[in-house]
Amino acid sequence: MSDDEQKIAAAERALQYVESGMKLGLGTGTTAAKFVDLLGPKVQAGLELTCVATSEATQARAKALGIRMSTLDETPFLDLTIDGADQLDGELHLIKGGGGALLREKIVATSSDRMIVIADASKRVEMLGSHPLPVEVVRFGLTATRNTVIALASDAGCEGEITLRQGADGKPFLTDSGNYILDCAFGRIEEPEDLDDALKMVPGVVENGLFLGIADLAIVAGPDGITLLSAKDNDNGDD
Ligand code: 5RP
Repeated sequence: MSDDEQKIAAAERALQYVESGMKLGLGTGTTAAKFVDLLGPKVQAGLELTCVATSEATQARAKALGIRMSTLDETPFLDLTIDGADQLDGELHLIKGGGGALLREKIVATSSDRMIVIADASKRVEMLGSHPLPVEVVRFGLTATRNTVIALASDAGCEGEITLRQGADGKPFLTDSGNYILDCAFGRIEEPEDLDDALKMVPGVVENGLFLGIADLAIVAGPDGITLLSAKDNDNGDD
């Protein structure tokens, strides 16, 4: 099974958790897009949902499929959010933000009763950090913010190259909220809670891509099938 087929398999499995009448958060990225694509026909066939998107891209995709979209202001309590991840470990700690949507993704996920992560097997790691950690920062004072991120991350045991994300046009990438992203290549994040606490201390940091204690379940599709990882008991049941 290719990575793409694994993403589809995880997205298909996630449909089992969606019930008519739900208020649903829709994630961002290629895996979440596959879930949205599978949801479209279900909605057209009568599944009643009210959805909130985590990005403008997802909003446009879902709307084009006829999915009823709301805003988080209109619908501030969601039943479930289904989203992808850049990395996840055995404790369901995540790195997110590869697609630049980490701020809205975290707001939507934490406004939901449950968050389910859908991922191909390449995303499952023993320790977070080999994927750069995205950190969303305000544009004002970028150099000062970057310096403080370097200093406080180092205190939390994390060092590595920090780069300003570029868009396809060669200009700094702007998030849907008009902020920059610093991609922090820390290599290994031994103590994610310490790093999260440290980054929260930096005034110019809006949010970081560590999702700790937020995901309830991960559906990880690999060549040998689906593995479910539950945050409740860390009991990994294979299908
Ligand atoms: C976007 C995200 C995505 O969920 C993450 O980047 C995974 O994306 P993909 O499913 O394309 O691998 O956090 O901000």
